[in-house]
Amino acid sequence: MKVLTVVGARPQFIKAAAVSRELRERHEEVLVHTGQHYDEEMSDVFFEELGIPEPDANLGVGSDDHGAQTAEMLVGLEDLIASERPDAVLVYGDTNSTLAAAIAAAKMDPALAHVEAGLRSYNREMPEEINRVLTDHAADRLFAPSARAVENLAAEGVTDGVRDTGDVMYDAVLWARDRATDRSTVLDDLGVDPGEYVLATVHRAANTDDPDRLAAVLDALAADSREVVFPAHPRTVNRMREYGLYDEARDRLTLTDPVGYLDFVRLQDAAAVVATDSGGVQKEAFFLDTPCVTMREETEWRETVAAGWNTLVGADGEAISRALASADPPADKPQPYGDGTAAAAIVDGLDDV
Ligand code: UD1
Ligand code: UDP
Repeated sequence: MKVLTVVGARPQFIKAAAVSRELRERHEEVLVHTGQHYDEEMSDVFFEELGIPEPDANLGVGSDDHGAQTAEMLVGLEDLIASERPDAVLVYGDTNSTLAAAIAAAKMDPALAHVEAGLRSYNREMPEEINRVLTDHAADRLFAPSARAVENLAAEGVTDGVRDTGDVMYDAVLWARDRATDRSTVLDDLGVDPGEYVLATVHRAANTDDPDRLAAVLDALAADSREVVFPAHPRTVNRMREYGLYDEARDRLTLTDPVGYLDFVRLQDAAAVVATDSGGVQKEAFFLDTPCVTMREETEWRETVAAGWNTLVGADGEAISRALASADPPADKPQPYGDGTAAAAIVDGLDDV
């Protein structure tokens, strides 16, 4: 079988790497990069470090408004699907790259397969929520990371082609954890000790594109008594500069460029607590037994909250400070996202196409 995989943004390289290792044992894969992320530390670093082959094609789309960016990807992907004639198009998550590939594939011959199907934040203000709902409703194969994701799909009448595979990010973390401990020098490079610092990331549009929310988040992080390591997404750096928040943030936080996957896994593993608005980071913290404070009002990864390992605090400065200071998850932790063998289950699911 020929599978055309479409990736474009940082977390998709990490997820696709885990599936690709399994997929290439059994099938032919054509890997397409839309070019949504393009900086060395947002893209190339993952291809080098995760051992994924170079993309067979890069559409070089880059940054733009949602409509223009998605449309340019759609045009390029339609051409590629026509020339490559894959049996299946495989997409990940909820970015504009996911949606563009879903629209292109759904109107052409190949089956559309969606990894991370069935996630819902039930907040339609999030561009990602629109992307994931539309992709799920266009997909032929829906690989859900949890029983709850399967239930979410059923509630929308989507039951055909749905399979609970577990979460592929768990596979990725299991692959990376020991490698990161052995190889990463990031703790020494930054001069931080295990258990002594907070690790923070912020990139969600609702936080970065609102000066009051961004200022409240940065203030609350800086007020913590521990060192706060903050590998900043380029979007966030741009907004901090635009709103005049950058210099103070640089003085009060340990701001760095985005780091590679092994360094980031090491940083999460050794942090006292993680503060984030990322989807993937909430789960990775959970897999790595590090408590998480999520600076959003809701999450699509609700199992982590129900388990007591993740606290939702929005952009409320006091709530952020309180949650950071008191993070104390229960000793026992359920496993709602499978056992780290999602990649094999996904490739099994593709075999049915
Ligand atoms: C995108 C996804 C988001 C995902 C995130 C992962 C959408 C709608 N959003 O958000 O769901 O969580 O990726 O990180 O698809 N930029 C650079 N260099 C880069 C990439 C981006 O400078 O390599 C800057 C540009 O100014 C760009 C901005 O970041 O305008 C936003 O990038 P974009 O890909 O549109 O969205 P993300 O915020 O990265
Ligand atoms: N990540 C990384 N370096 C960083 C920040 C994050 O490698 O500096 C990884 C992280 O381990 C996770 C993924 O990027 O696997 C999460 O991506 P992001 O937060 O950009 O997107 P989201 O998951 O919210 O879509």
